[in-house]
Amino acid sequence: MRGRLVAGNWKMHGNRAMVRELLDEILDQAGQLVSPPAMAVIPPAVFIPQVAERLAGSPVVVGAQNVCDQEGEGAFTGEISGAMLREAGCSYALVGHSERRALYAESDELVGQRAVAALAAGLTPIVCVGETLDERDADRTEDVVDRQLQAVLAATGAERAAELVIAYEPVWAIGTGRTATPEQAQAVHAFLRGRLGAVGADITIVYGGSVKADNAEALFGMDDIDGGLIGGASLKADQFLTICRAAAG
Ligand code: PGA
Repeated sequence: MRGRLVAGNWKMHGNRAMVRELLDEILDQAGQLVSPPAMAVIPPAVFIPQVAERLAGSPVVVGAQNVCDQEGEGAFTGEISGAMLREAGCSYALVGHSERRALYAESDELVGQRAVAALAAGLTPIVCVGETLDERDADRTEDVVDRQLQAVLAATGAERAAELVIAYEPVWAIGTGRTATPEQAQAVHAFLRGRLGAVGADITIVYGGSVKADNAEALFGMDDIDGGLIGGASLKADQFLTICRAAAG
């Protein structure tokens, strides 16, 4: 179901004390938001139990930064299954973040399998797609994001598309301070929504890439941008909450 969502991807940041402090600050203000968006924080996996315990009963939920492509248990050293993440309290799992694709060589097919495994465990996959600067300059943005999207739909089956959240994250805008303009992002969001077919109108599509307190409102004001996947700014409670406020309905 389409709705407003702001998710904070903490990446590989934090320690137990910092997690405690950041959540205290977020929860202090999150309850006061008027028509808040769905809100999630996505910590490193070791902090998920701590975060889930602190967030219980609050309007903020927890997600995982990745999920194993294999269902069940087995000899998959270093991986964490969807069922384990679900039991630990997760509602969402990122799949196909550009850092996973670029630094850990995750293929479109693997990302699709991770989305399948997330769904099987009852997690909502946040499927990340996005082009590099070279690809944008070569006018290949639509080809690239469509290829990444179709690989996931091929794995999950198009009939499960409505259960996905899509995050458009241009690689050149992630952690660079260089945001896509609202118009650039809107164009890709509208394209993705169109490529999702009949269910496109029901799917939450968020933008990620240097979203900050001072640019969130302009981005979220665009017709097809339903919220954000926030990296750096999600580590600061004030920034994160200002961004959540900008996504309020
Ligand atoms: P950023 O990261 O907000 O720090 O650019 C976004 C992301 O990678 O999800």
